Amino acid sequence: MVKFTVAVALAAITGTQATFTKPCNFPYDVCGFTLANQEFGYTQATLAAAAVAAGQDPNNGTILYDTIYNCLADGEIAWNHHCDNGCDAAQTVPNANCRA
Ligand SMILES: *[C@@H]1O[C@H](CO)[C@@H](O)[C@H](O)[C@H]1NC(C)=O
Repeated sequence: MVKFTVAVALAAITGTQATFTKPCNFPYDVCGFTLANQEFGYTQATLAAAAVAAGQDPNNGTILYDTIYNCLADGEIAWNHHCDNGCDAAQTVPNANCRA
């Protein structure tokens, strides 16, 4: 019999507080959609807070996900730059890049 463990994360949306499963730490540079994957588990609210801190539009999905973020200490992230042609996560962290 297969047992399933259902983890229900009711993350409090607290604006600038980073919420994640696994911290992304300095000196990694990671795509937004990588941060949002199961491994890292960053919430959209966390990506949006980082975008707002950088003066970007948090309601624009490509701004949140097709973007390079710098990983800081303690899992904090900083929005760095949007990738017009998408973010390339093909290389493993720490070196995500924009597609050419
Ligand atoms: C979202 O951001 C992209 C990249 O800056 C831009 O091209 C697009 O027009 C924006 N979309 C909206 C709905 O603002």
